[in-house]
Order: sequence, then structure tokens, then C-alpha cells
Amino acid sequence: MVSALLGQLNLGLLMFQPDGQITFINPAARTLLHLQDFAEDHLLSIHEVCQHCHNLNATCISRLLLHGIPSQEWVQGLQVHYFLLPEPAGAAQGAIALLPASTFPAVQEFQQQGALDTLFEISPDCLKYMDAQGNLLRMNENGRHLMQVDDFSALQNQPWSELWPEKTRPRVLQAMRDAQTGKIGRFQGFCPTAKNIMRCWDVVVMPILEGPRVVGLVASSRDITEQAMLEQQEREQAEAQKRFVSDAAHELRTPLAAIQGNLDVIFRYPHIEESEKKEILQDVQNSAARLSRLVHDMLQLARGRTGVKSDEEVLLHEVALSAWRDAQRISGSKHHFELGLLEPIELYGDTDRLKQLTLILLENAVKYTPKGGTIRLQLEEQGGTAQLRVQDSGIGIAPENQHHIFERFFRVDRTRVDSRDPGGSGLGLPIAKWIVEAHHGTLEVESALGQGSTFVVRLPLQECSVDP
Ligand SMILES: Nc1ncnc2c1ncn2[C@@H]1O[C@H](COP(=O)(O)OP(=O)(O)OP(=O)(O)O)[C@@H](O)[C@H]1O
Ligand SMILES: [Mg+2]
Repeated sequence: MVSALLGQLNLGLLMFQPDGQITFINPAARTLLHLQDFAEDHLLSIHEVCQHCHNLNATCISRLLLHGIPSQEWVQGLQVHYFLLPEPAGAAQGAIALLPASTFPAVQEFQQQGALDTLFEISPDCLKYMDAQGNLLRMNENGRHLMQVDDFSALQNQPWSELWPEKTRPRVLQAMRDAQTGKIGRFQGFCPTAKNIMRCWDVVVMPILEGPRVVGLVASSRDITEQAMLEQQEREQAEAQKRFVSDAAHELRTPLAAIQGNLDVIFRYPHIEESEKKEILQDVQNSAARLSRLVHDMLQLARGRTGVKSDEEVLLHEVALSAWRDAQRISGSKHHFELGLLEPIELYGDTDRLKQLTLILLENAVKYTPKGGTIRLQLEEQGGTAQLRVQDSGIGIAPENQHHIFERFFRVDRTRVDSRDPGGSGLGLPIAKWIVEAHHGTLEVESALGQGSTFVVRLPLQECSVDP
């Protein structure tokens, strides 16, 4: 009779023995806890039930049975009450769990909503709930963190599309239109955080459907800034590689063509005059020397920092002075050489490379300074940094070319202004920059067209060790 009554109850009920064995589950609780698969006479333990449906808390029940502490808890929108059974004198106690009827019709929905809410909050991406027009209603905590939003109320009810820069907005609106018509919208674009840090996002916009009607939108934005930067770097590297190969081929072709052409002449006309033959062979030798220098420079650049020593004690002033003397020889007294302050500076690095660096800058000063001009060298220590300055009163470099002169094979086109181009392959400064960077330093240029140039090398003295 009692059991029949309990069976009618629109209220979930479970009865437990003191050892935690379940002695009775009414049909409402069976449905609610999805226990229909178990035979009605099967004695379930608390742990079996808890494991099966996750709606009941084994700890709560054990606590109740062992210590008599009644409790209640909310489990995914469902309030579960645990009570001790009335105690017949001296007998062991049992317990019951009640699942209120009022929550029944909405339980499934509650549970789904609860699961969605949990998903919404634990997602590592930035998730937003919006109304069907795309006004922001809610943003998950990780999203607020990613977007650096301290106070979401300022964004609430604002159109989401307006958070995006104008350039990206058409893509945002298109994805929203897709979602508003029941499809899934997707795009990638840059959008700054609330604190104005630009990030790149991969965004999916989905409709929230009620039957066929779109009642809201969910947007999930994944921060792909790092990935986008890597891809950009890879693209740039591939582009640079391609440019390098085509520039290198072009540079190598000139001396090769000269050698080939000159040798052709000698083979075709074996009886040309000895003096002319000598001249042609001299040309061949010059081209071969240029070819060999080109290949050597290109190899040096391609090898990267592995070719630079890090542990030599370098007396930088002596290195600079030795390059200074070489440059004077190259100039052949066509220029005034002024030696400024030359402070004794000692650092760890690669002596040969640092000499090569100084000589590249001095050679350029000689090459791009007309006869009678002045070339000046100075070395001093400034705030833990060795500062080497190579200054000339030469032709100077136009502002628009100053960024490019450190690129491989770049040479300022002087043919339009001056036909006396001293020649070169445009690898000197890229090598200089590579040596400076291998010593963790910087190389800068200050220059004005027609007034001269100053190249400044700064090398940190403390950690002036080269990358392994
Ligand atoms: N001191 C300078 N004054 C004016 N222009 C300069 C100076 N140094 C470099 N440049 C410009 O920068 C370009 C690149 O210099 P870089 O030393 O890399 O190549 P290069 O001198 O042309 O050839 P090389 O590979 O033989 O050194 C030069 O072609 C020149 O136009
Ligand atoms: Mg040069």
C-alpha cells in the first residue's frame, strides 16, 4: 500500500539502508535518474547510483548515514534533499533522498542548460551570447580575460560588430548574417583588446534556434595571434629566400658572362695580339676574383651565426686601429683620415669578424666619399656599451634608401645621378649587420644626401657573447 502510494508520487524518492544499500526507488526517481535499465528488484548501492547518474552525491549520503547530518544540494538545477529516516528505538538508521516534483518538467532543460553554462564558462576561447540582432548579452570569464575586459557592463547590449575595426567589420557582418539565417558564419581578423593590444582571432558565429526561429547568436573567438605571426614570418622568410636566390643568380650571372665572353674571344681568335690577350685574361681574372668574393660573402651570410666565435678576448681599440690602417691603404691618400677618441675597450667576441665589420664600414666610407673628403673613426664606452662611429663627408644616403641598405644585394641606384659607380655587390652592410647582431649589438645609420654618413655600432660589454 505504502509502496503503491510512493509509486504514484510525482516526487523522486530513494531509500537507503544504513550500509548505503538502496532499498527503494520510486518510478519518478527512476526516470529522473535514468535508472530504468536496472531491474526493479535489483539492489543498487549508493555508489552505483551516483556513478550512473552523477545527480546524487555519495559524500552527502555517507555523511548523513554516518553522522546524521541532513543536507541538501543543487545538482544541475535540481535540488536534492537528504534526510535520516525516523529512528525506531535502538535500530540502525536509514536515509531517504527526495527530489522535488516541481523541478521535474524542467529537469531535462535545466540539465542541458547547466551543461551548456558549464561549457560556456570552461571554454578556453572567448564566447559571447548575443541577441538575434547581434547585441552582446554575456561573455565568458576566459573571454573577458582574453579581451582584457574588466567591466563587461560597459559592453552589455552594445552591437558586437562595432568592437571590430572598420576594415574587418564587413567580414563580421557577413558571418552574423550567415548565423541569422541559420547557417554557421566563420572569419579571421584582427581586433584589439579592451586595453588596445592588437590580436588576431579565428571566429565562428552560430545561431541559437528555437524551432526554426533564430533567437540569438553565439560567437566563439579563438586567439590565433601567435599562429598568425608564425605564418607571417614563414611567408616573409620564403619571400626573402626567393628574393635571395633570384638576386644571387643575377649577381653571379654578370661575372660569369664576362668570363665566358672573354674566353670565347680567346678561343675564337687565337692569333690576337699578345697585349690584347693579356688584357682579356686580366678581365677574366678580375671577374673570377669578383665571383669568388661573391660566393664567399654569400656563404658567410647563409651559414648564419654558427660561424662567429663568442669567447675570444677582443681588444676592440686594436681591432679598430688595424682596420683603420687597412682603409688608409685602400684610399691611397685620396682622403683625409681623422682619428677621434679611441678608448681602450675589451670584450668577448670574435676578433676577425669585428675587424671585418669595421673594415666594411671604412671601405664604404672610402668608396662613397669623393676625393679630398674626410673619414673619421671614433671608439668610446657609453653606459656599458662600446660605441664605434665611422663618419664620412661623402655622397650620403637618401632617407628612403636608409632602411634598404642593410638588405642583401641592395645598392643605391646611382647611375641616374652619377655614372662613376664604384661597383660592389651589396653584401657588405648585410654582413656587417649580421656580425653586429651575432654580438647582440645594433647598427644604425645617420645620413643626409650630399653631406655624408655616420654608421654607429653599439656592442653591449657585459653579455657580449655570441649566440651558440
Ligand atoms: N658610407 C656610405 N655613403 C653613401 N652610401 C653608402 C655608404 N655605405 C653604403 N652605402 C650605400 O649602401 C649600399 C649598400 O652597401 P654595401 O656595403 O652593402 O654594398 P656595396 O658597397 O654596394 O657592395 P659590397 O658588397 O662590395 O660592399 C651601397 O651600394 C651604397 O649605395
Ligand atoms: Mg660595401
